Amino acid sequence: MKDNKNKTYFIETWGCQMNEEDSEKISGMLKNMGYVRTIIREEADVIIFNTCCVRENAEQKVFGNIGAIKALKRKNPKLIIVVSGCMIQQKGMAETIVKKFPFVDILIGTHNSYKFPEYLNRIKNGEKQIIDIWKQEGEIVEGLPIDRLSSVKAFVTIMYGCNNFCTYCIVPYVRGRERSRKPEDIEKEIKELVAKGYKEVTLLGQNVNSYGKGLEPKINFADLLRRIDKIEGLERIKFMTSHPKDLSEEVIDVISKGRALCEQIHLPVQSGSSKMLKNMNRHYTKDQYLDLIKKIKEKIPNASISTDIIVGFPGETEEDFMETLELVKTVEYDSAFTFLYSKRKGTPAFEYENQVDEKTKHDRFNRLVETINSIVIKKNQTFEGRNVEVLVEGISKNDENKLTGRTRDGRLVNFEGNINSIGKLVNVRIIRSQGFSLLGEAICDN
Ligand code: SAH
Ligand code: SF4
Ligand code: F3S
Repeated sequence: MKDNKNKTYFIETWGCQMNEEDSEKISGMLKNMGYVRTIIREEADVIIFNTCCVRENAEQKVFGNIGAIKALKRKNPKLIIVVSGCMIQQKGMAETIVKKFPFVDILIGTHNSYKFPEYLNRIKNGEKQIIDIWKQEGEIVEGLPIDRLSSVKAFVTIMYGCNNFCTYCIVPYVRGRERSRKPEDIEKEIKELVAKGYKEVTLLGQNVNSYGKGLEPKINFADLLRRIDKIEGLERIKFMTSHPKDLSEEVIDVISKGRALCEQIHLPVQSGSSKMLKNMNRHYTKDQYLDLIKKIKEKIPNASISTDIIVGFPGETEEDFMETLELVKTVEYDSAFTFLYSKRKGTPAFEYENQVDEKTKHDRFNRLVETINSIVIKKNQTFEGRNVEVLVEGISKNDENKLTGRTRDGRLVNFEGNINSIGKLVNVRIIRSQGFSLLGEAICDN
């Protein structure tokens, strides 16, 4: 421990909230070893790249970043370079990285990341390079130290892996099969967070609706939500991601009656064409999805609904795409993440012959973004003059005289208020919409 005093680490994370939480665990392990975090890469004693491979451009960014630190390593041979995360779990990727960048010290996958301190010590004791990638997931490791970025809201993984094998997606291959954490472990973690002053948790899983499979005694996602909603002092519960094929009426019902459960549902549709959905192996049709949205809106009238959409999946025709546009207009999403389809080696869709050309993909992408933006802007305007509850996260990035936080339904609000209200819930009057965020003033925050 002592010899790590004043030693620093720099960590960069790509990908989803799961990866962010993994990085918080890596940070926790490093801090336990005596390291301090730095945001200046050039100064660090250890550099960690926690990678994502869900789309090709995520991978390109990682290659660019590893290449860029070659000179640092040459100048300081003691610098330890670590590449971790999903990208490393891909078949043949570790070999590619080692060939391109032989100066990387540790390559570690997603299933054994808890072994990181051991590998780091071995490198410090003179070992040349460690490449350890487990093909299969092991038991869930509880109780790892964790150094969270926020002191107001926290990610809590409730399950790992994915069993769905959507034909475009690499996640099941790099994150393994579904495993659920025991409810008592989740509850314990959240109670500890609340004791530290956290107000909000986001429960994470690739498909939270299938939580609980294989656990004894039996429990499903709705049961877990009910249990967590009872935790005193916890103000907000959010979760992601819900797969539409598994979102039950029971879960919708629990949210509608819940206390801390927020009126926010992320329900990735991926496409508005039933033909595309079938080819994507999503197990629902456009009509089934729209029925689900109807049920949500009936039971939770003020719910905000967000989604993920892929444009240019193999075989997507102009008609298929028009169905996506129509669906977006019908649902009136509160926000949406849009992606250009990216071929991922090892997934079934990689082999599909009817790939859509780049120009058509980009053209559809732009049309989709335009449609979504106009809906989101219109929806945000309806908040002008309204009072909302904001969980204050800190000082606004763009204006240091303002505070920033989010509403229960996930909207970003910048507002004038008392700095002492950071970490608290504050009532804010919305003065005007700024397109994708809201501008307001605290009603009473002292
Ligand atoms: N488990 C979640 C999301 C996982 S990945 C779910 O099922 O919704 C996040 C998003 O990335 C997906 O929802 C999808 O829209 C997008 N995505 C996944 N693979 C992709 C690919 N090959 N090309 C483009 N987008 C992709
Ligand atoms: Fe990927 Fe589908 Fe699993 Fe989501 S549900 S992680 S999109 S395979
Ligand atoms: Fe990327 Fe892995 Fe998440 S591939 S999206 S970081 S599960």
